[in-house]
Amino acid sequence: MSVKTHRVATIPGDGIGPEVISAGITVLQNLADTLGTFKLEFAHFDWSSETYKKTGKYIPDGGLDELKEHDAILFGSVGAPDVPDHISLWGLRLAICQPLQQYANVRPTRILRGTSSPLRNCSPGDLDWVIIRENSEGEYAGQGGRSHIGQPWEVATETAIFSRYAVERIMRFAFETARSRPRKMLTVVSKSNAQRNGMVLWDEVAAEVGKEFADVKLDKMLVDAMTARMALKPGSIDTVVASNLHADILSDLAAALAGSIGIAPTSNLDPTRKNPSMFEPIHGSAFDITGKGVANPVATFWTAAEMLNWLGETAAAQKLMQSVETVCEGGLLTGDLGGKATTKEVTDAVVREIQKLGAGH
Ligand code: IPM
Ligand code: MG
Repeated sequence: MSVKTHRVATIPGDGIGPEVISAGITVLQNLADTLGTFKLEFAHFDWSSETYKKTGKYIPDGGLDELKEHDAILFGSVGAPDVPDHISLWGLRLAICQPLQQYANVRPTRILRGTSSPLRNCSPGDLDWVIIRENSEGEYAGQGGRSHIGQPWEVATETAIFSRYAVERIMRFAFETARSRPRKMLTVVSKSNAQRNGMVLWDEVAAEVGKEFADVKLDKMLVDAMTARMALKPGSIDTVVASNLHADILSDLAAALAGSIGIAPTSNLDPTRKNPSMFEPIHGSAFDITGKGVANPVATFWTAAEMLNWLGETAAAQKLMQSVETVCEGGLLTGDLGGKATTKEVTDAVVREIQKLGAGH
């Protein structure tokens, strides 16, 4: 039987991005070699703030077309101390997500075996959420401008965009995700009491699409109250859908409540599969620890597992997560999780677990 080869474009980017992506490639390659059920071919793209400083561009001409030749994109992080954040974000990450219509940003959160939540009485299993972030418009639509720059009467606008088209597609994706999980419950996060146009459309479309999903319970929550519920009643939440900015904020809180931002993964999906989807750890460039070899590679491993799931390699994805959790449970943890292990020690241990799994076959 011939095995499928998945072509993965890697963009390590800035800060700890190159360290964790290199750990991710090591683990993925080992998994593919050990299981023998699929193959991976990596192509590396050096698009970063360094490239930008040298060439004036994050993405060279024709770069997006090259990316489209791949089945998936594995992304590290972007952001440098000497480049304004809005330039790096719009130059690289959003310059990929938006044209490639990766409109569904998926952020699963749970407490991995061997890690703990800062919440009292919250063990693995008590917190198991998927946050779906609208990833193409909303508060990140890039609409707005500045006039009278530098004058006391300077003004700036930042307009959030909510289109029926984009709200409908993200709601449909969110209901489908909720339906695929045992509890079949979707919490629609809103702020329609204060944001009386876009967010009211958001709520109305959620209710309309919800009619197609009679088996999924539709639960509504204002974003401010949602933060309290996440901290006080984590077990009452399952699948969540929120606007670009609301979900950005809620997902950092979610990662912290689950133990560390060093373990949290993200998928930027084009559910139509016309374009490759992009997978990245949630954490940023982390300059305080860049180059020290102590970054937590677990977020990238979990991200790699999400990528394998999307590529249809669900058994391999499960084995990868099993190996990662066994290593965490054994107490080999990086600093963000209260341990002393290095990136390399965690990576080597995960590779050993993968090889043990392979020996069982
Ligand atoms: C995220 C990040 C980005 C965002 C930053 C780096 C601009 O926080 O992916 O959540 O706000 O989208
Ligand atoms: Mg964020």
